[in-house]
Amino acid sequence: ALMVGRSVRRRRGWRRVVRVLEELEEGCATPVGRLRQVVDAMAVEMHAGLASEGGSKLKMLLTYVHNLPTGNEKGIYYALDLGGTNFRVLRIRLGGQRSAIIEHDVDRQPIPQHLMTSTSEELFDFIATSLKDFVEREENVSEPSQKERRELGFTFSFPVKQISSSSGTLIKWTKGFSVEDMVGKDVSQCLQQAMSRKGMDMRVTALINDTVGTLALGHYHDEDTVAAVIFGTGTNACYLERADAIIKSQGLLTTTGGMVVNMEWGNFWSSHLPRTSYDVDLDAESPNPNDQGFEKMISGMYLGDIVRRVILQMSQESDVFGPVSSKLHAPFILRTPLIAAMHEDDSPNLNEVARILKESLEIPEVPLNVRKLVVKVCDVVTCRAARLAAAGIVGILKKIGRDGSGGIASVKTKNGIHKKMRRTVVAVEGGLYTNYTMFREYLNEAMGQILGEDVAPYVIIKVTEDGSGIGAALLAASHSASEVVDSV
Ligand code: GLC
Repeated sequence: ALMVGRSVRRRRGWRRVVRVLEELEEGCATPVGRLRQVVDAMAVEMHAGLASEGGSKLKMLLTYVHNLPTGNEKGIYYALDLGGTNFRVLRIRLGGQRSAIIEHDVDRQPIPQHLMTSTSEELFDFIATSLKDFVEREENVSEPSQKERRELGFTFSFPVKQISSSSGTLIKWTKGFSVEDMVGKDVSQCLQQAMSRKGMDMRVTALINDTVGTLALGHYHDEDTVAAVIFGTGTNACYLERADAIIKSQGLLTTTGGMVVNMEWGNFWSSHLPRTSYDVDLDAESPNPNDQGFEKMISGMYLGDIVRRVILQMSQESDVFGPVSSKLHAPFILRTPLIAAMHEDDSPNLNEVARILKESLEIPEVPLNVRKLVVKVCDVVTCRAARLAAAGIVGILKKIGRDGSGGIASVKTKNGIHKKMRRTVVAVEGGLYTNYTMFREYLNEAMGQILGEDVAPYVIIKVTEDGSGIGAALLAASHSASEVVDSV
């Protein structure tokens, strides 16, 4: 009787777990119809954010970047990249001919956890010290230091209210950073002050978002590049907008051409987004509740934690994972690279899944059907993320009339009528896209479904290599004093 009782309980536990999975699937469903609603909502919010300050959750920040690099940029530039998991310093020699980036040295280190929640002085002293060490090392091994003042492109990947293309104030922190005294301060000035505390002479000639660096690099290699998207620790997009479409800045902008707009799409929200109780809890327990709703469903910082929450729920409702592991209660313990590894485990027994459950979550050996269940959870969460990301991209294309909805021109040629559309390139960067194959494949598949077979071939997603580093150097070069003189 005992045996029967136990096996019945086990089976009941399994049924509950399957129910949790089904509910998750329903809650995360993204049929094409729903994605189209997200596309429309994105385009509508973009209009609203451009119409007035605070007109939308999309901030649609001005960058004062009017001219993307031409390919003639020349000279040695430094770049600083702060904003994800790592902090990097680079020294780049630009050769003056398109694609001629001659040299490129990097120093990369994880940002010490305590600095992410320290004071602005501590954070910037750390940055300036690393920069100083790097410069000294570099200039020892190469030619003696240049006569002119060194110039720096600073990629600071948080929402910044730009004052010019080389300065701006921090609006708020995202991605787990929280250096409170920094909010409202001038980012370039903080760096400039820290550099003078260390006795360094260097000028910040460009202060940019990582999306903007990526767009600059993408455009440098391919002039049809009109937008850039990051899928990393956080997610965000920028694109080239016509100056007259930026209603909120009329009178302020003297240019007639275009300007790059940093959307800060991580903060996008719409009632059409498929939201589950796991998303609600993740948001409520995050350091920035009610903020960055889109980012919390898509980016690398959060995907693993959504999966953790689902497994916790399953473990609490049944005994299929054994007794509830205390590790399952630890926020962010399941990093996104691990869910990618489980998702893409192609061994017949899903040994990698078992290993990760054991090593990261202290869940003892589970049978194959439970391992499959975990893979399925990763699949549902990542599929939703990738498809929403695709809808976001198409939303941008719609806003700028590149989604084919305005019709495709028919062109008469010698061999008959051909349909013709402009080629549109979107530059993409970030480990989530480049390292997580299933995310990338789901995203590309959804792009095709939303755009349809006539339009999809004209929209190209291109991975760029280090826009936040090289893009920053390119923009530092195109905004530097010597370049301005050159072009007069
Ligand atoms: C966060 C930041 C944004 C950045 C993105 C990708 O969303 O707010 O500025 O571009 O992460 O790094």
